[in-house]
Amino acid sequence: NVMLSWQKTAYHFQPEKNWMNDPDGPLYYNGWYHLFYQYNPDSAVWGNITWGHAVSRDLIHWLHLPYAMVPDQWYDINGVWTGSATILPDGRIIMLYTGDTYDVVQVQCLAYPANLSDPLLLEWVKDPNNPVLVPPPGIGLKDFRDPTTAWLSPDGDKWRITIGSKVDKTGISLVYETKDFIKYELLDGYLHQVPGTGMWECIDFYPVSLTEENGLDTSANGPGIKHVLKASLDDDKNDYYALGTYDPIKNKWTPDDPDLDVGIGLRYDYGKYYASKTFYDQNKQRRILWGWIRETDAEELDLLKGWACVQSIPRTVVFDQKTGSNILQWPVEEVESLRSDSFEFNDVRLGPGSVVPLAVDSASELDIVASFEVHKETVDEATAEADTGYDCPTSGGAANRGILGPFGIVVLADDTLSELTPIYFYIAKGTNGKAVTHFCADELRSSKAADVDKIVYGSKVPLLQHEKLSIRSLVDHSIVESFAQGGRTVITSRVYPTKAIGRAARVFLFNNATGLSVTASVKIWKMDSADIRPFPFDQL
Ligand code: FRU
Repeated sequence: NVMLSWQKTAYHFQPEKNWMNDPDGPLYYNGWYHLFYQYNPDSAVWGNITWGHAVSRDLIHWLHLPYAMVPDQWYDINGVWTGSATILPDGRIIMLYTGDTYDVVQVQCLAYPANLSDPLLLEWVKDPNNPVLVPPPGIGLKDFRDPTTAWLSPDGDKWRITIGSKVDKTGISLVYETKDFIKYELLDGYLHQVPGTGMWECIDFYPVSLTEENGLDTSANGPGIKHVLKASLDDDKNDYYALGTYDPIKNKWTPDDPDLDVGIGLRYDYGKYYASKTFYDQNKQRRILWGWIRETDAEELDLLKGWACVQSIPRTVVFDQKTGSNILQWPVEEVESLRSDSFEFNDVRLGPGSVVPLAVDSASELDIVASFEVHKETVDEATAEADTGYDCPTSGGAANRGILGPFGIVVLADDTLSELTPIYFYIAKGTNGKAVTHFCADELRSSKAADVDKIVYGSKVPLLQHEKLSIRSLVDHSIVESFAQGGRTVITSRVYPTKAIGRAARVFLFNNATGLSVTASVKIWKMDSADIRPFPFDQL
């Protein structure tokens, strides 16, 4: 029974049933984390978009609440679309979202909690002035959506938001200024634009500290701060970010490296990950990233199983002080509270061509931390002959052997390796003749099922001298979220094993390189279920 394998996840957030897409308006308030999300109450495919709502004390254990907003006004009757929260200094909460009107125009709308002293913020009021923004002249009526969290203007008396759009094929970010979130002024020019990138959905714009490990409030700016600009490209359904500098006087953001601009450079995640959004968690002074993880099976199967899509485990985001050229994403520490039985395998020597089973059964809910030592001299010597131009997506996957790769872990495998998902490194020769390390996830043999996508994902991962290679993988039935080098490169896979499920699921170490020995050390935890509970509930 093929459906057997497509169990719901154990600790990734998802509704009880039906379709979910983007995370909306995440915030921390009065002891609770709130997550809203794009939801179809009626079916496991997109439509009737409503705001689902859930709360948590720890970002991992959730309680489902009644819908926060439903499509019931002329300006959002075709969908209460994506939006963001802003917490004002006086404690008020502002929610801005996109409404899809009765005549299919995208407009921005304002909502707020009916009762700020209700810790669960159960009831939401749509402002009578809605819609507060309509597409400005020159902007397509269907190309104006997903307002960001607001930040303070340089003189501190107004708020700014940015909204994604496009002009011809150029992706743009419009900036508005407001005092009261009802009346707005469009600022001249764009915060940024990149030709050829198409419609920018779900823009995110936030500061990161160059020197501190903590996150920053969205309004922070000044020396020692860079700004991340992220756009979700409607055309290729991936989230691209870039680091740069924000000049609030000119209303311009400039990328550090024009070759790594938004939409053409770095991605948050090289697997399935889209429409993400951060918020500043004032509870723990960190910036937290949520992302939507789609299904990659056939739509008929989603309808059969009655649910589609999950949210990623929330990730902290910081500037990578070591490389200076990327951010680091890491699962929030609270996920570690689900760790139960642990298994350790130290100094496992992996000669060329080896596959080593690890004694862990029922391996479909795991937290894996693995490190790999390679012999630097071997790498230096062999690099000259190692394949140039290697690229995970076109590499043919982990079955293809090179001199210096692939090596890593195999998850969601059965005993006989008839199904398996390798997560691995592959060292190749870069264009400058030096070694480049790639981080890949290979779904090609992940499932016997026919109507599911099977892709090889991945990209380069920056490496400093004398650094060990490391992988962290969160395995949760059909999801594998993998982080290389502390979160410099991240890959989220959806895989649908039919045999490597339940008690039959196994994990292995492997080294399929022909010219390299690797020493691996691994710690694995089984993960408890997050026990996400429905409303009403007896106890808070
Ligand atoms: C991104 C997106 C947003 C829109 C929402 C509608 O996935 O298309 O641009 O607001 O989903 O559900």
